Amino acid sequence: MDFETLVKTRRSIKQYEDTTVNDQDVQDAIELATYAPNHGMREPWRIVWVKKHRVADFSQLFGSLSFKGQTEKQAQFNDKLAPLAGVLLVVGPRDRRQKEHLEDVLAVGGFMQTLSLALHQKSIGSCIKTPGTMFIPELNDALNIQKEEMLYGLIYLTAQTSNEIKERKNSNLISEF
Ligand SMILES: Cc1cc2nc3c(=O)[nH]c(=O)nc-3n(C[C@H](O)[C@H](O)[C@H](O)COP(=O)(O)O)c2cc1C
Repeated sequence: MDFETLVKTRRSIKQYEDTTVNDQDVQDAIELATYAPNHGMREPWRIVWVKKHRVADFSQLFGSLSFKGQTEKQAQFNDKLAPLAGVLLVVGPRDRRQKEHLEDVLAVGGFMQTLSLALHQKSIGSCIKTPGTMFIPELNDALNIQKEEMLYGLIYLTAQTSNEIKERKNSNLISEF
């Protein structure tokens, strides 16, 4: 797929079909994404990979913290996530220095976009998620995310369903100096 087609046809897939992914394809996509630019070669990322056979455990943990005491909502959440082929949790440093933090956030954004494109090229559907639950300390503890780290986002892995291109409307983004 040429670059323009790859960028334009990548979609955030939000309907999850019961599917599996080839582990090697996911691993190759992750390794490719590490070529994203990052300042000082800090490479501010690591991945916690929730494989298909652990999706139910993950949704149980995540749902119980997202919907405390709301058993029906937890069950709905479990049902929603059950078909996923896996989840990639993108973890990186939580740098208290503002400049370094900004650089890390930008680098992780580039990493996630490159990863999404690499997955798309391998016909794996994905969706980046940034739910508020990511910041709950109990979740971070359960995932063994350290105090000097943070969860930057989740990437759901699923079947690649084709979606129409979402036209971008912000056409007024360039001005001249
Ligand atoms: C940083 C970031 C966070 C996102 N968080 C969520 C999210 O929490 N839930 C969700 O359904 N989609 C999330 N998305 C996906 C966007 O909704 C999606 O990219 C947008 O609707 C454009 O659709 P497209 O990716 O198919 O072009 C996120 C995307 C980015 C880049």
